Amino acid sequence: MRAVVTGGAGFIGSHLTERLHSEGHEILVIDDLSAGESRVGIIEAVGVEIVRADIRSEQASEAIASFRPEVVFHLAAQMDVRRSVNDPAFDAEVNILGTLRMLSAAANAGARFINTPSGGAMYGELPADSVGFDEETRPAPMSPYGISKLAGEHYCRFFGELRGLEFVSLALANVYGPRQDPHGEAGVVAIFGRKLRDREPCVIYGDGKQTRDYVFVGDVVEAYLAALDRGAGETVNIGTGVETSVVDLYTQMARLAGSEAEPVFEPERAGELQRVALDVSKAKRILGWTPKTSLAEGLQTL
Ligand SMILES: NC(=O)c1ccc[n+]([C@@H]2O[C@H](COP(=O)([O-])OP(=O)(O)OC[C@H]3O[C@@H](n4cnc5c(N)ncnc54)[C@H](O)[C@@H]3O)[C@@H](O)[C@H]2O)c1
Repeated sequence: MRAVVTGGAGFIGSHLTERLHSEGHEILVIDDLSAGESRVGIIEAVGVEIVRADIRSEQASEAIASFRPEVVFHLAAQMDVRRSVNDPAFDAEVNILGTLRMLSAAANAGARFINTPSGGAMYGELPADSVGFDEETRPAPMSPYGISKLAGEHYCRFFGELRGLEFVSLALANVYGPRQDPHGEAGVVAIFGRKLRDREPCVIYGDGKQTRDYVFVGDVVEAYLAALDRGAGETVNIGTGVETSVVDLYTQMARLAGSEAEPVFEPERAGELQRVALDVSKAKRILGWTPKTSLAEGLQTL
C-alpha cells in the first residue's frame, strides 16, 4: 500500500514507519521536525523519504496529492499539554487547522485517514466508580490539547459525511517505549529512564498515587496496522485498561536500573488528572487487537 505518515519522524511515527516499511508498504513521511531530528537517521536508513513540511502548509498538501496514498496515518501534532495551556492558539493552529488540511488532502486523494486523538486528554478524569473510559464516554477535556484533539474527531466525522472519507480514530492511552523524548504526555517514563540512567533524582508531583494507562509503542503500532482494513468510521481506544500509579512506575523502573534512590516529592501540579485508564474491549471486537506487552516487559526494552 502507499501510505503517508504525518509526524513520521516522531516517537510513535518512527516506529510505525519502520514497521510499515518492513511489511513492504511504500511510505512518505511528512514532518516539520519541530520535535527534533534525532529519529531522522532511522527513517532515512530504511530508505523512506521525508518531506520536511508543516502540516498546515500547501507543501504538505501538495506532497500528499502527488504521492497519491491509499492511507494517511495522521500523527503530527502539537502534543505538549503544558504548551497548549500557555499558548492555546498555537495548539489549535497545529492540531485543528493542521488536521483539517490533512483531512482535506486525504479526501482529495481518496485515502483512508487514521487519526490519533488522545484517550488520556479527551475523556478527562476517570470517575471513582469506573475502571476505564469506554468510547461512549462523554468527552470532558481539561486542556486546550484535549479540546483540539476532540475537534479533530468531529472533523473526521464531518469529512466522512461530506466527502465520504473513510476514517478510523485510535484514541491512545499513555504510550511509552524506546526513542521517546522526555516531554509531552507520557514523558514520565522517558524522564525517569533518563534520570535513573544518569543517577539524577526523579521528581514525583503530589503523592504519586495518580494513575495512568501505559501502553507499549510496539503494541500501538500493531493497532495502526489493524486499522488499515478494519474499524471504518469508528473511534477505538488503544491502551491496556491497567492503571499504574507514578510511585509504582518509579519503583519498577528504579528496580530495573538497580537504583535504591528514593524519589523526590514536590507539590501537586494544578490541573493534573488523578486517574486515567481506557476500556479497550472495543479494540478487540472491532480491530481484533489486544495489548500484548506488560509494563514489566515493556520497561525492559528501554
Ligand atoms: N505519546 C503519547 O503518549 C500519546 C498519547 C496520546 C496521543 N498521542 C498522539 O500521538 C501522536 C504522536 O505522538 P508522539 O508521542 O509520537 O509525539 P512526537 O512529538 O514524538 O511526534 C510528533 C511529530 O510530529 C511532528 N510535528 C509537530 N508539529 C508538526 C507540524 N505542524 N507539521 C508537521 N509535523 C509536525 C514533530 O516534529 C514530531 O516528529 C500525536 O498526534 C499525539 O498527540 C500520543
